[in-house]
Amino acid sequence: MEDIDYLQSTSVVATGYQDADAQENILRPKFLSDFQGQKKIKENLGVFIKAARERGEALDHVFLIGPPGLGKTTLASIVANEMGSEIRMTSAPALDKPKDLAGILTNVTENSVFFIDEIHRLKPALEEMLYIAMEDFEIDWVIGQGPSARTMRIPIPHFTLIGATTKAGMVSSPLQTRFGINCRIEFYNEGELGQIIKRSASLINVPIDDEAVGLLAKCSRGTPRIANRLLRRFRDFAEVIADGTITADVVHRSIKNLGIDLNGLEDQDRNILRTIIEFYGGGPVGADTLSISVGEAIESLEDFYEPYLIQKGYLKRTPRGRMVTAKAYELLGLQDRMEAQMRANGSSYLTGFGGAGQDAQGTLFD
Ligand SMILES: Nc1ncnc2c1ncn2[C@@H]1O[C@H](COP(=O)(O)OP(=O)(O)OP(=O)(O)O)[C@@H](O)[C@H]1O
Ligand SMILES: [Mg+2]
Repeated sequence: MEDIDYLQSTSVVATGYQDADAQENILRPKFLSDFQGQKKIKENLGVFIKAARERGEALDHVFLIGPPGLGKTTLASIVANEMGSEIRMTSAPALDKPKDLAGILTNVTENSVFFIDEIHRLKPALEEMLYIAMEDFEIDWVIGQGPSARTMRIPIPHFTLIGATTKAGMVSSPLQTRFGINCRIEFYNEGELGQIIKRSASLINVPIDDEAVGLLAKCSRGTPRIANRLLRRFRDFAEVIADGTITADVVHRSIKNLGIDLNGLEDQDRNILRTIIEFYGGGPVGADTLSISVGEAIESLEDFYEPYLIQKGYLKRTPRGRMVTAKAYELLGLQDRMEAQMRANGSSYLTGFGGAGQDAQGTLFD
């Protein structure tokens, strides 16, 4: 076997976790029938799209919520394809002034799709403009300056707004209620990821056996983007250390080099849990403090690491901050500390476990 130690500590799963890479588009499903999992969302969207098409109307506005890499952008382009309409894509941070948004809204075509990513970052003045556009298909435009300024209402074509966010709790309720269709995208199970992996493997022409598909699905953090990224890395390993086929042996050797375990946890996940235990007595600790302690940007801590650690039952968000669970102590082999910390924290620690104030929606308390 070749020396591949240099790959130690390379984070494949987290690096640029929210950035679509160039090869992502090749693997992006184009129609609902290629989109795996999310059964209810698919069924409902299929019905709403069919009905809108038959009426010759624009689809109602769609709100997509879910952690990075689960298919929000993909679904937006699928909606446009299924509607047989155009799509314009932008992201809220790219819209700076009302004229940026007005420029797009006055140019959308009838029944087309306008996709705004990271919609929780929209500026208030733009949000107000969007309310009217979504509801009345008009925009208010101020002409002139000073005392002679007047507002004109300009009609715009009927369009479908698709807003996507990883942080539903940060979207104002007036905006949220203007979406007629709400889709909360969940992590994928191993069977669904297996289907995605097989489809991607055939698209990029890499042989992979069934056992390897199962293992890859297990360590993909319930996330298609990570499954696809790992698939490409495993292909590299398979070509260099084996005969080109991704087998279970290739997967085992690759994940060891990539610092990932079969639960999809990587070094930084374990570091986060260990830091809470070693520096903060198991928690609670605020997200800001934790992000500094582990040297991770708050966005990637909140959007990428925490949702999966919470879903796997290693971490809890409580009104007082983040706390580890008994499962985290077990993972790190620190059970003896758990008892000591529980005793030291007394009842406050115990009530922190799944307490009434636990934040199921991912709204942030600190
Ligand atoms: N249900 C699915 N079936 C098959 N492939 C999928 C599915 N969902 C996502 N993918 C794949 O995962 C990749 C990432 O998905 P996408 O870019 O849509 O995620 P996202 O939710 O928009 O992420 P972000 O929040 O980072 O913008 C896509 O290129 C696509 O190949
Ligand atoms: Mg996206």
